Amino acid sequence: MAETNTEAQKQARLAILELANMISIPMSLHAVVRLNVADAIWEGGANAPLSAAQILARVVPGGGGDAENLQRVLRMLASYGVFEEHIGDGERKYSLTNVGKTLVSDENGVSYGAYVLQHHQDALMRAWPLVHEAVLDPSKEPFERANGEGAYDYYLKKPEMNELMLKAMAGVSVPFMKALFESYHGFQNVEKLVDVGGSGGDCLRMILQKYPNIKQGFNFDLPEVVAKAPQIPGVTHVGGDMFKYIPQADAIFMKWVLTTWTDEEIKHIMLNCYKALPAGGKLIACEPVLPETSDDSHRTRASLAGDIFVMTIYRAKGKHRTEEQFRQLAISAGFNLFKSFHVDYFHIVLEFQK
Ligand SMILES: C[S@@+](CC[C@H](N)C(=O)[O-])C[C@H]1O[C@@H](n2cnc3c(N)ncnc32)[C@H](O)[C@@H]1O
Repeated sequence: MAETNTEAQKQARLAILELANMISIPMSLHAVVRLNVADAIWEGGANAPLSAAQILARVVPGGGGDAENLQRVLRMLASYGVFEEHIGDGERKYSLTNVGKTLVSDENGVSYGAYVLQHHQDALMRAWPLVHEAVLDPSKEPFERANGEGAYDYYLKKPEMNELMLKAMAGVSVPFMKALFESYHGFQNVEKLVDVGGSGGDCLRMILQKYPNIKQGFNFDLPEVVAKAPQIPGVTHVGGDMFKYIPQADAIFMKWVLTTWTDEEIKHIMLNCYKALPAGGKLIACEPVLPETSDDSHRTRASLAGDIFVMTIYRAKGKHRTEEQFRQLAISAGFNLFKSFHVDYFHIVLEFQK
């Protein structure tokens, strides 16, 4: 009879149990965002270690709730680096790590919390048990199989989903743009800029604040999305469909737009960008980039997990791509000069010139 109790086999059984229950991690993260735990611990920068009972008293001011269950959630997330656990006098206390601090609301009330909630809405959750369908028949993404229509069409009909998407994009874009300004300086000679798929206009607002040489900024997104976007000085919101046309500008910016579409759709979007630009005009695309090799680093895992998210929710053949794959798509749309800039561990800025 085959040996079943080697050290390697014990480790393997442990690993498969961990993998099988990994859903506990994002769902517990979802719970702490819903309960507003990060703001409760942060309390204006104090970040003092608190027991689960103390945190509960802050998040449910009227009293009630189960401190033991909150502690179970906090303890598990501490093992994944969201909280730091402090043990003393027989009591467990929790403060925020740098990961946990990404969930603290800034002065405008935004954080990565909305992104966490946006990814776990019921309609998205219904798609997850159908990932295998994207393998069997990629003509329809799991989201559409589960909900009867594509994700963007679905969001637009549900005002609360549309609003959460705007909030989620603001939460991830503000810190990203601060990092972008440190390593990318390609807005210097631009006077007219359009942000394609610009959501609420946060990226454009920050670019215009940093680069006063830009006299006109157009935030271009679906009409239902720009209808909910806030007024921003210097920014004109334009509703439309990037598959039909893109407003003319010296440069086109886009972030997290190409990755959700198929190769054919990307070529179509890039061709419309090409038409909207003058000779020498630039397309500046900020996208997640897949590493060429696979390993177990956070960088590779975050990007491969995001790739499966795109496959499940947006397009079964939408995907995260390597730098070279993006370059080939841009060449096929007519762009020639190509530069790339690394902004952080997840994204790359790709600059294509007409
Ligand atoms: C993942 S979000 C990125 C938002 C924003 N660029 C950011 O990074 O914060 C993709 C955006 O593309 C927009 N979008 C989807 N289909 C579009 C279309 N056909 N034309 C214009 N915008 C579209 C969505 O409404 C959404 O705001």
